[in-house]
Amino acid sequence: MSNHSVLAYCRPGYESDTANELTTRYGEAGCFGYPVSKKNQGFVHYHLYDATQLEACITQFAVNDSIFPRQLIAVFSTMADIEKEDRVGQILDALSSVEKPFSVFGAIDVEYPDTEDGKTLAKFCRKFTVPLRQALRKANWLTAKENKGKPKLHIFFESFECCHIGYTLPSHASHDHLGICRLKFPSDAPSRSTLKLEDALVNMLDEKQQAKVLRSGGRAVDLGACPGGWTYQLVKRGMYVEAIDNGLVADSLMSTGLVEHHAADGFTYRPQFGRVDLLVCDMIEQPDRVAKLMGDWLIKHWATHAIFNLKLPMKQRYETVVEAMTLLNDRLNALEDAFAVKVRHLYHDRDEVTVTIVRTSTDEV
Ligand SMILES: C[S@@+](CC[C@H](N)C(=O)[O-])C[C@H]1O[C@@H](n2cnc3c(N)ncnc32)[C@H](O)[C@@H]1O
Repeated sequence: MSNHSVLAYCRPGYESDTANELTTRYGEAGCFGYPVSKKNQGFVHYHLYDATQLEACITQFAVNDSIFPRQLIAVFSTMADIEKEDRVGQILDALSSVEKPFSVFGAIDVEYPDTEDGKTLAKFCRKFTVPLRQALRKANWLTAKENKGKPKLHIFFESFECCHIGYTLPSHASHDHLGICRLKFPSDAPSRSTLKLEDALVNMLDEKQQAKVLRSGGRAVDLGACPGGWTYQLVKRGMYVEAIDNGLVADSLMSTGLVEHHAADGFTYRPQFGRVDLLVCDMIEQPDRVAKLMGDWLIKHWATHAIFNLKLPMKQRYETVVEAMTLLNDRLNALEDAFAVKVRHLYHDRDEVTVTIVRTSTDEV
């Protein structure tokens, strides 16, 4: 069945936020459509009114420049009644009846929703990949060897009976299976929150930005630092950290000699030496208050760069993020300095998004 939609993977429970984001952003770009999703299913379809806009849609923005999607796939075929016998043959039949979007694909991923139900499909998908890949190579849909520079074919099994077939472009996609970057918890870190900051550092900053923001010997302030998972990431990279929180910072961090603990209010604390390279903040506070505070630090040059969480315990999460970030971006845009701003709902985030702001127009050290 021909079916032209963008399929977005997201954290289960974030379907309506993802749907709102896609409808707003694709609508602004003139790619009109409507979202379809069910609560907690871990994905959303954005169906296009005009099927010829599929490529325009998928190239509007990269996954990494969106907030809630983990992956964005251009779906060009859906199979709704797959039978148990010869699934490979049925997929090849379905593909033979559609217009090939590219002459050849460089790789294939067989995927499933990141939910409890989805887990029952995981083993099947893994096993199914091998024969399907071989058959697609024979049928000239896939290059003989994996080629990461070419579009990737995705077969997304919603259930054993229903799958969606689509593609991603390497320039716009997540390169992780299911759009999920799993990180190993470092056994000496004081809290699991450490993975949120690590996820942001490796997935939201490119290598140049990482080198700029995380200078060994540089200084950072961590607002709402305890027990120290974020401070741990900074100390690991050789930074001096002013850790601000009324709670206790893990002894293992204090003993490095790189951490100064101040039992103070993060909203009134100011850096010891007038400025720092990096401000990080994981305080549980209203998003607009945090965004305002981050703006103050960047505008007054108390910090060159900032990485922070906006906590989202409310229902209208997309709207809340847009509102807080619009106010902050307006303030930053009024400055002479330029900033690279990203907002992502990372795999290791919970009810929150992570924001990275890198000052790009200055060699400030
Ligand atoms: C989610 S925890 C931070 C976890 C930390 N990032 C880690 O990785 O271990 C939030 C922290 O913010 C602190 N906090 C909340 N409001 C604060 C404020 N106004 N000033 C300083 N710390 C605050 C809390 O005491 C709490 O320890």
